[in-house]
Amino acid sequence: MIKVDKEFLQKFELNLDTSNPDSGEYPVNLLGFGEISIVVEILHEDFKDLALKRIPIFDTVEQVERHIKAYNDYNQILKEKIGLNIPDYGTEWVYTDLKKKNTISLYCIQKKHNPKSVCHHLIHQLSHEEEIDKLVLLIMRELHKVWKFNKSQDKYQIGLDGQISNWILDKYEVSERVYDNSKLIYIDTSTPMVRIDGIEAMEPVLLLKSAPRSLRWLLKALFLEDTVNRYYDWRLVTTDLIANFYKEQRPDLIPKLIDLINEFFATEATDFDIKPFTLTEMKKYYRSDANMWRFFQGIRKMDRGTKRMFGKRYDFYLPGKIQR
Ligand SMILES: Nc1ncnc2c1ncn2[C@@H]1O[C@H](COP(=O)(O)OP(=O)(O)OP(=O)(O)O)[C@@H](O)[C@H]1O
Ligand SMILES: [Mg+2]
Repeated sequence: MIKVDKEFLQKFELNLDTSNPDSGEYPVNLLGFGEISIVVEILHEDFKDLALKRIPIFDTVEQVERHIKAYNDYNQILKEKIGLNIPDYGTEWVYTDLKKKNTISLYCIQKKHNPKSVCHHLIHQLSHEEEIDKLVLLIMRELHKVWKFNKSQDKYQIGLDGQISNWILDKYEVSERVYDNSKLIYIDTSTPMVRIDGIEAMEPVLLLKSAPRSLRWLLKALFLEDTVNRYYDWRLVTTDLIANFYKEQRPDLIPKLIDLINEFFATEATDFDIKPFTLTEMKKYYRSDANMWRFFQGIRKMDRGTKRMFGKRYDFYLPGKIQR
């Protein structure tokens, strides 16, 4: 398990410029950002080759410790019971305000992999479309392991976000090719979607923390349950994986990928009775998903504007305009 110097991380957190992480006191290399977090490498010798994902959503030590326990369980199940490849990992938490101690940032730490090998880059780099097909098939086979596990027992149910940006093709930088036996590494483990005896190990409502307080009830009512549930449903996770090619600016690949996954479910995973996918449903799904995130980002921007007006610190990093 990876351990880092908590005191240093606390200093880093206090000096972080959340709207512009590159320009804080400690230089970082921005590796990525998602809808609610940023991933950085701190350019300091103790943090060399580590990817730190910052999640600033906790109010209390109890909350963050529950999340850490869920994170550790999730990683362990993915690795040991299901057999997915995941990066070496660890966690540390710090206060966002040392005096008030009323908000906490969790850092999920992973061994850093070569940024060029993250699969959403590959779909723009690979010169043969057959290699992209191969890549998606490899992802489907990893997902198969997860849902076979879910089916095989009642104690644990595992959810996963199968999107293309959550996978790393190991050793891609060496050959720049995809092989039938290439190894995939799953990196998006910081939202621990695991239900133990039917109970969600993390507290999903925390995911709404980056939205203004006054609107959280609305978002919860509108989106939260569906958003979390879909990651436990293999058909929806697959829909999300394929429909995401719109966002990744490769809609041209979608019709062929639909044939590919239909073939996959008809030959390799027949016992899951997954209904064939259609182009119409992919389009419809993507439109509603993009609208949901646009709405979410929109109200967060408003919230940031108000906080700035009153001279308050805004704890989240908001990406610029995202192409959808
Ligand atoms: N260990 C790592 N090595 C290299 N790059 C990484 C690593 N972890 C994350 N990244 C980069 O950061 C991006 C976002 O990471 P990740 O998928 O874990 O978070 P996310 O999509 O922001 O998750 P969420 O939406 O759940 O907050 C990845 O797509 C990848 O480009
Ligand atoms: Mg991700």
